[in-house]
Amino acid sequence: MENSTQRKQTNTFAEDVLNGLTDNPKHLSSKYFYDDEGSRLFQEIMKLPEYYLTRSEREIFRNQTDEIYKAFHADKSEFDLIELGAGDGTKTSLLVDYFLKKNTKFRFVPIDISEEALNFLTEKFHKEFPDLDIQTEQGDYFKTLETFKEKSETRKIILFLGSNIGNFSEEQALDFFKHLREVMNDDDLIFIGFDLHKNPKTIINAYDDSQNVTSRFNLNLLKRINLELGADFNTEEFLHYASYHPIERAARSFLISQKEQTVHIKSLNKSFKFKQWEPIFMEVSQKYNLEMIEKLANESGFEIAKNFFDKNHFYTNSLWKVRI
Ligand code: AVJ
Repeated sequence: MENSTQRKQTNTFAEDVLNGLTDNPKHLSSKYFYDDEGSRLFQEIMKLPEYYLTRSEREIFRNQTDEIYKAFHADKSEFDLIELGAGDGTKTSLLVDYFLKKNTKFRFVPIDISEEALNFLTEKFHKEFPDLDIQTEQGDYFKTLETFKEKSETRKIILFLGSNIGNFSEEQALDFFKHLREVMNDDDLIFIGFDLHKNPKTIINAYDDSQNVTSRFNLNLLKRINLELGADFNTEEFLHYASYHPIERAARSFLISQKEQTVHIKSLNKSFKFKQWEPIFMEVSQKYNLEMIEKLANESGFEIAKNFFDKNHFYTNSLWKVRI
């Protein structure tokens, strides 16, 4: 995903596909999974019996709402509740509901690249919480947060939920938080969802489900390239393969070419050769333990205020404050 060098020049979808399929080994970026069909498939993943992440985070939000509220110092001063990559906002609505019942003064500020996701979310929240002050921000996280630092004195509580951080390598994650630190004021907070190290079989099952939804989710990116860039991928010739590496603590997914084949992409005016059993690296889902989280926080200029866990200790929502 994004790192400091990529941030300077934002590539287009076509450029990233070209670079990824020209590289050896081939790769595509998981940030492109979420077109309409991909977002729909991800909703389906979140309901899978094997996909424990969503349920674990929801359990934390449901059972520890008051503790979270108190840790946010939500009773003390007004704040902006900023959500990066808000998605469908299911978990956030649990917090919003509680904060409103407590008469907390806050604004909800979802930031997302997708205009459509923002419209959907706003409509849903307006219906559910007619009194809630919502200000959507469409675009790049950092650009938006930078303008906040300049124009707003209001305390910020930033939410980065759903183990979205998992799609960064550890190095990219460090870079991400260092940058975030630069756009935060001293009394701002950040609340991050991390998926924890656990039985590797539990992890691999979450990324290799019995209904093959994750396979369709992965293959959908090839379909997206067909649709948007005029390619002729035959998705039946590619196999979804998920792995979990217990030392690197990373789940990775690949699409593997089952035969030697050539794919043409019209918009790029280029053909790409695949050897038999050649992989395309699609996604990393990095898992963490508490030492890794603490190290990440310390190296990027934060300290852990409090970690919240589900009963199984499958997952943590980690609240960080700025180290002064
Ligand atoms: C949205 C990045 C948290 O890595 O678990 C789910 C995406 N990929 N199944 C994850 C995903 C395959 C998900 N995140």
